[in-house]
Amino acid sequence: MRRPRVVGLVVLGVAVLVAGLPLLRGPIELPVTQHHLLHAALLVGAALAGVLCGRRDALRRASPAWIVLAMIAPILAMLLMWPSAYSFFEQHPAGHAFEHVGIVACGFLAGFAGERFAAGVGWATGGSAVLMALLAAFGFGVAPPTAVPIAAVAEPSLQPGASGRRNTGASSPAQPSHGAMIYATNCAVCHGTAGEGVSGPSLKDERTRKNLRQTIEWIENPAPPMPKFYPAVLTAADVRAVATYVQTL
Ligand code: HEC
Repeated sequence: MRRPRVVGLVVLGVAVLVAGLPLLRGPIELPVTQHHLLHAALLVGAALAGVLCGRRDALRRASPAWIVLAMIAPILAMLLMWPSAYSFFEQHPAGHAFEHVGIVACGFLAGFAGERFAAGVGWATGGSAVLMALLAAFGFGVAPPTAVPIAAVAEPSLQPGASGRRNTGASSPAQPSHGAMIYATNCAVCHGTAGEGVSGPSLKDERTRKNLRQTIEWIENPAPPMPKFYPAVLTAADVRAVATYVQTL
């Protein structure tokens, strides 16, 4: 009876140590997917520790409160991985470590409370906490782009048929280019207003990685979690304009 609990506590200790890594490493820049996969690994350890520690005497009656806790914990873990807070945490090692400890705590609680409720339940609830991180890694729930098309529609120069160049162009040179405006509306959330990178990678010196044609191809056919704007939101001309702008960052 004691052995699993000791193993569980050791696993928990390792998870907490790994969670604290940002304190040693400073600001960490990782692709979003990799980062969420690391969160998933943290959660595997934490949930496993929770399950091992949570084992209880089958004879004692379980309190229903455990199952409630076990269901709330994965949701809390998901909220902690919410991307709007993500870039802030990434730049602040202490906040980042704190976020990780929160993730570990949620994973542990999911496994522990589930297992307290009934043998076997901890595997399911702990597993669902891990699933949250995996879903985040593959782009579900990451920076929902829903607000973006609405903003683009409100921008008359982005509507097909309307000539953005005539509205924004030569008459006043201080106006940002069509491409810059598309960038500010659709791309800056993830790539930063100056292309410095937020939840998406930095686009500075993109021309050293991709030429104009490759940049256009990428925007027309991006890999998740980057959303696909073409052809629903951006026309081919828009894509070309924004790609040209990206090449200047
Ligand atoms: C929801 C966030 C998000 C939005 C909005 C977004 N991107 Fe991205 N973008 C990403 C992510 C994440 C990647 C990295 C994908 C990968 O690693 O495969 C990426 C990659 C890229 C790349 C390739 C970088 C490289 O060389 O590896 C380019 C170019 C790019 N985005 C341009 C844009 C443009 C232009 C827009 C606006 C029309 C835009 N992105 C909007 C998230 C976003």
